[in-house]
Amino acid sequence: MEVVSYRLRSLRMLAAAFVLAFVPALVATADAADVTYTDIAPILHQRCVMCHSGPGAPRGLHLDSLKGLLAGGDNGAVVKDGDPAASELIRRLQGVSLPRMPMTGPPYLSDEETRLFEDWITTGMQAGAEASDSAPAREVEASEFVTFDQVAPIFATRCAKCHTDNGLMGAPPEGYRLTSYESVMSAADRVRIVPGNPAASELLRRVSGQARPQMPFDGPPFLEDEEIVLIERWIEEGARNSAGDVAPIPVGARVRLHGTLRSRWQLDKLQLNISRKTRVDGNPQSGDQVRIRGRVEADGSIRVDRVKAR
Ligand code: HEC
Ligand code: HEC
Repeated sequence: MEVVSYRLRSLRMLAAAFVLAFVPALVATADAADVTYTDIAPILHQRCVMCHSGPGAPRGLHLDSLKGLLAGGDNGAVVKDGDPAASELIRRLQGVSLPRMPMTGPPYLSDEETRLFEDWITTGMQAGAEASDSAPAREVEASEFVTFDQVAPIFATRCAKCHTDNGLMGAPPEGYRLTSYESVMSAADRVRIVPGNPAASELLRRVSGQARPQMPFDGPPFLEDEEIVLIERWIEEGARNSAGDVAPIPVGARVRLHGTLRSRWQLDKLQLNISRKTRVDGNPQSGDQVRIRGRVEADGSIRVDRVKAR
């Protein structure tokens, strides 16, 4: 017993001596020389990996591991040892090369975050003590309803490259940004999501192919069936935000829907509210592609102002 406690005590003293001797030194050298992959990996995982991973990684550039980062993409290396200014990765972060990264920006990285990447390159692109190459597993919540957090990765990886400012097509197509909950739900101009009514949501019609051109515009591949079902459930359950709050019904907002007219004024499976005030152009018949314009009613249904054969 005595021997053990003596050993413990001396170990503790040793540890204390070690801390006293080395902590000031560690603090003093916590400068650029200490930047390693371990320091930049969290930023990559938070802001880049949602797109730059897997078989569809843009330009073949994988940013979910040190190996992928050093390997670069189809065009070769994106980091040049000791030369941040000549590194495409830095140029993309600063907007010297376009489109600027991360593609979901703004917001882009802060100056401090960008400097971390520069310092990492300047100081020899070290791996660091415990370079964790495994991406943190995407948390799949076992909650009873779908929230925006579960569908956001789909929009980020498959849609935001076009549906953002300065995206692949320049301005966002149709002025529609898919970069945040607010922009996805925006009722400026018109709504593409009617909470609780997936069939009246042009976004779902586009990804399922009922409305053409089908999205994503650069498909195939289009979305997986499970992804479409997830988006449909999300809308059905009220298009909840990250906190789980149901979106209010945008009463009076405009909608513009595309699809196939079926018998008894159905747009695919959506029953249309047609009245004597509805304007019908081009004598559309069952089976024809049509464009509907209307407004959202308080119960989430659509009052149709106009039906037009395409
Ligand atoms: C929403 C998806 C998305 C996100 C998020 C994203 N990127 Fe990209 N990235 C792209 C696309 C798409 C391209 C190809 C654009 C083009 O045509 O140049 C690209 C291209 C690049 C390139 C150029 C590759 C080459 O070989 O020329 C670099 C470097 C890059 N991204 C770095 C990053 C970094 C670093 C982050 C995170 C800070 C990031 N990206 C976040 C979609 C994304
Ligand atoms: C390669 C670029 C590109 C990608 C990627 C892309 N889109 Fe589009 N999107 C377009 C273009 C172009 C249009 C306009 C097409 C038209 O209607 O003629 C459009 C139109 C739309 C519309 C109709 C907007 C309106 O006001 O009626 C929706 C909704 C939409 N996209 C959703 C998506 C979703 C969801 C994704 C991802 C699953 C996606 N898009 C991916 C280019 C893209």
